[in-house]
Amino acid sequence: MSGAAGASRPDPAELLNLAVDIAQRTGRLLVDERPDGALDMGTKSSPTDIVTTMDTAAERLIADAVREARPDDGMLGEEGMDTTGSSGVRWVVDPIDGTVNYLYRYPAWAVSIAAEVDGKVVAGVVHAPALGETWTAILGGGARLGGRVLRVGEPRELGQSLIATGFGYSAADRAWQAEIVSAVLPRVRDIRRGGSAAIDLCSVATGRVDGYYERGCNPWDLAAGALVAREAGAIVGGSNGAPAGYDLVLAAPPTLFAALHDLVASRFDALDPKDG
Ligand code: IPD
Repeated sequence: MSGAAGASRPDPAELLNLAVDIAQRTGRLLVDERPDGALDMGTKSSPTDIVTTMDTAAERLIADAVREARPDDGMLGEEGMDTTGSSGVRWVVDPIDGTVNYLYRYPAWAVSIAAEVDGKVVAGVVHAPALGETWTAILGGGARLGGRVLRVGEPRELGQSLIATGFGYSAADRAWQAEIVSAVLPRVRDIRRGGSAAIDLCSVATGRVDGYYERGCNPWDLAAGALVAREAGAIVGGSNGAPAGYDLVLAAPPTLFAALHDLVASRFDALDPKDG
């Protein structure tokens, strides 16, 4: 994607303001208009991979709001939104990251909205209404929780580190993800499984965990949270120098990244079910 000829480069701060405004409106929808009883829902990749009518209503609100403000932008969203724009800007959106938490009223869920310019994320917000917390970041402009500028936690060796991770929705993937956790757990302080990749990445930025790894995340799970983590000083990457992506995302302060990578990446490679 390249910017429209002659158009001025979008200002990341303006994109962030729009993202925050839309994320807050979406958060209000998800809290105020959630039905009292059971949510209507369907399943996606597996019986545990759910989509509720609130996910789709939230994605629709985001799409309409972006279209109204910036009609030439593209959008990619978890619930099917995938459009190519002409402006060079694309919005990468997870209307509810942590849908299972939302279903159970477990507070760790978030609206995640990132703005890419020419394929690079330049602004992102992770808004967690049930936690009352909003993380933001601008490329080169730092990360914030509310008004507070974030830095990753103090340096710790792997054995003293609290490590977050997550699991996919397919039973087969979970079986080998469990094998990896069983190798990691004896070598770290402890493991956390919060249920929202976006919040896990922001937790690295906030020093609430020391590191995070997961296999099977999609761009909408990672886009905003990875910028927050990086701008707070974390390294966010994949296996053996690859960028973070579906195969692996690792996030940790520079003092911990290599040790976490070496513990996790080789085991993922060895156990990859794609290789049988
Ligand atoms: C999921 C959450 C979860 C992670 C899964 C994601 P969703 O996103 O981020 O923590 O472990 O890999 O798919 O489905 O709730 O938007």
